[in-house]
Amino acid sequence: MVKIPTLLAERIAAATDAAFPGSSYEVASLVEAAADTRFGDYQSNLALRLAKAVGKPPREVANAIVTALAIDDLCQTPSIAGPGFINLTVREELIARTAMELGADAQLGASVTSRPTTVVLDYSAPNIAKEMHVGHLRSTIIGDCLARVLGFLGHDVIRQNHVGDWGTQFGMLIEYLVDTGAADQPELGVKDLDGFYQAAKREFDANEDFKLRARNRVVALQSGDPRSLELWRRLVEESKRHFRAVYARLGVLLEDRDIRPESFFNPRLAEVIGDLALLGLARESEGATCVFPDGFKRKDGEPLPMIVRKADGAFLYATTDLAALRYRVTELHADRIAYVVGEPQAQHFAMLFAVARMAGWLTDAVRAEHVSFGSVLGPDRKPFKTRAGGTIKLVDLLTEAVERARAPSTSGRAGATPVT
Ligand code: ARG
Repeated sequence: MVKIPTLLAERIAAATDAAFPGSSYEVASLVEAAADTRFGDYQSNLALRLAKAVGKPPREVANAIVTALAIDDLCQTPSIAGPGFINLTVREELIARTAMELGADAQLGASVTSRPTTVVLDYSAPNIAKEMHVGHLRSTIIGDCLARVLGFLGHDVIRQNHVGDWGTQFGMLIEYLVDTGAADQPELGVKDLDGFYQAAKREFDANEDFKLRARNRVVALQSGDPRSLELWRRLVEESKRHFRAVYARLGVLLEDRDIRPESFFNPRLAEVIGDLALLGLARESEGATCVFPDGFKRKDGEPLPMIVRKADGAFLYATTDLAALRYRVTELHADRIAYVVGEPQAQHFAMLFAVARMAGWLTDAVRAEHVSFGSVLGPDRKPFKTRAGGTIKLVDLLTEAVERARAPSTSGRAGATPVT
């Protein structure tokens, strides 16, 4: 397939050869995308480069090239701007014809890479026992687009759905399952994950006895108590059913086997801390284990730590991410790791990469990046919250979006009113 810039470059080359026989230039650099699209689609800076060799002012050189230029079938009349740029505006017929050709090509004109890489894409990553909310929509859709594009270009994409399925909140949730009798039913039957979460939280805040049992339950869960683990697994399964419904509705690539949840890394966390200590990077600070990467400061100017283990021995989100990064490099053999996560976590990822580099777990051979995006705002211009209650579940939002899109439009702008 002939590309438009190549066609244009050939014509410019022919005109230049006619106007200045024997001049030397590189055909590949004759035409580039316009610096300012108000003046055209492409531009050639050849006249500026040739001026010295032919001993004429650049504008004059440009004039001579344009006079010799036969390009009417491809472009509107070329113009000369500034010191001697030749501006080219492509004819709409040519754009349309090229678009048709691209559309007919199985690869849409994009060539498959000659250097395929292994790309780990971390996206979607909702949290168990909470409904997916509108914030997860962006990660899911942006991540899925990247997965499709990179795969299309011939890269080996490994999807990793870093589902949040571990943490102290499970003590409370499991204990609530027991209290409500759901734990003894063959089906947990949690139709509304958020409602369930909020009810458990209310109980936790209001009831001292419940709070104590929830704390003990966390300990039991973390030390592998079979009954606690079984209930935790059932909660995870229940949540996955909700996620699946959303993914099916969105038509994304994510499958169950892409789920590599936080709990997967539990057996590797102690090693992360051990290795950081061996490397001399971990330091005790107020009982917690911390790493202080260069260049990160608190507001008061003191070094900002990445806490990898709390004083009570608990591991954190950051510890799991360190373990996951190591796994992706050493076992998934990633050349590139992209985390599709909202902007509020920018500092977390900057510190994660910094600490992993200090430890030698991330080297220059691997490209790690945070693909960040902004928050979805409510009508009050503040980020949509999950816990404050009244938040729209993603699945309901999608249903409403489809309904509105299908509804006959009266004003021509159906669905333009904000969701409230
Ligand atoms: N579960 C997290 C959240 O909902 C996102 C996880 C992103 N991935 C990661 N490797 N930290 O905020």
